[in-house]
Amino acid sequence: NCLKTKKYKGKYYASIIPGNVKDQLERLENMEVRDDDTFVLSYPKSGTHWVFTIASMLRTGKSSYSGSPHFLDYNEIDLLDNLPSPRLLASHLTFDQLPRQVREGKGKVLLITRNPKDVAVSYHIFMTKLNAPDYKGSWEGFLRFYSEGRMLYGSWFDAFFDWENTKATYKGDNILYLIYEDMKQDLLANVTKIAAFLCETYDKSFLEEVTDRSTFKTMVKTVMEEIKPSDQDYIHQMSDDKKLPIYRKGEVGDWKNHFTVAQNEIFDKIYQEKMKNTNCTFRFE
Ligand code: A3P
Repeated sequence: NCLKTKKYKGKYYASIIPGNVKDQLERLENMEVRDDDTFVLSYPKSGTHWVFTIASMLRTGKSSYSGSPHFLDYNEIDLLDNLPSPRLLASHLTFDQLPRQVREGKGKVLLITRNPKDVAVSYHIFMTKLNAPDYKGSWEGFLRFYSEGRMLYGSWFDAFFDWENTKATYKGDNILYLIYEDMKQDLLANVTKIAAFLCETYDKSFLEEVTDRSTFKTMVKTVMEEIKPSDQDYIHQMSDDKKLPIYRKGEVGDWKNHFTVAQNEIFDKIYQEKMKNTNCTFRFE
């Protein structure tokens, strides 16, 4: 079985969503968006905090760490409304669930995706590290539910198709599409791309500094020292040892250490079937 969830229209959402999901989605739909808002959008475990950290450094012009983002999904609208500008918010919702004004071109969206095998491993290990007495899932069971889309925030495939569909049909220019594996391959190029998208002009040396400070190696070493758990930080509160269970391995291909040969074959079949009509090819190693 999985963590406590709220179900809405066949999809599972986190129980920490205030009130019922329908009402929260309606409130978000009508939320007042500001021109300088930035939203980091992702399926869980795809690099949300990584992109948030980079964007935060670029927005503030300081290469310091800034804790966890406020999630649209988990917070009362009043709290979001009262955050100072410029706001940097995150969400695991889909693009069409974002505030209407975002879909009308207001604010900016950084959309990140990651190969589904590494997401599965990261997701399962994250769940086991949370202080969740009702979660006792084995890897095998988790992978089965994950493959069937019976997960918090639904199926990775549905989230990916939302990403693809938005890319193909949304005409606005306020989205930047990012891929975890590309960021691993050339972080400076992606930091530069994010800076240009956010219209932040910095010299190359600052972009290099941000890049250095956002490599996995540096982040895993220093984030914990520099971030003090705050009352707002739901992840600190949720984790077993009050450590931030976000920075784990930060690699492409760790799935090979967790999938058995049989599990990989089954997943590959599902992947090939689901992805047969897309041009997108993920790097798995
Ligand atoms: P792993 O569990 O595979 O290590 P999210 O923020 O969406 O929850 O994603 C968490 C995943 O992003 C974790 O993956 C985490 O280690 C990885 N991550 C965080 N910071 C990273 C960085 N600087 N470089 C690469 N991966 C990073």
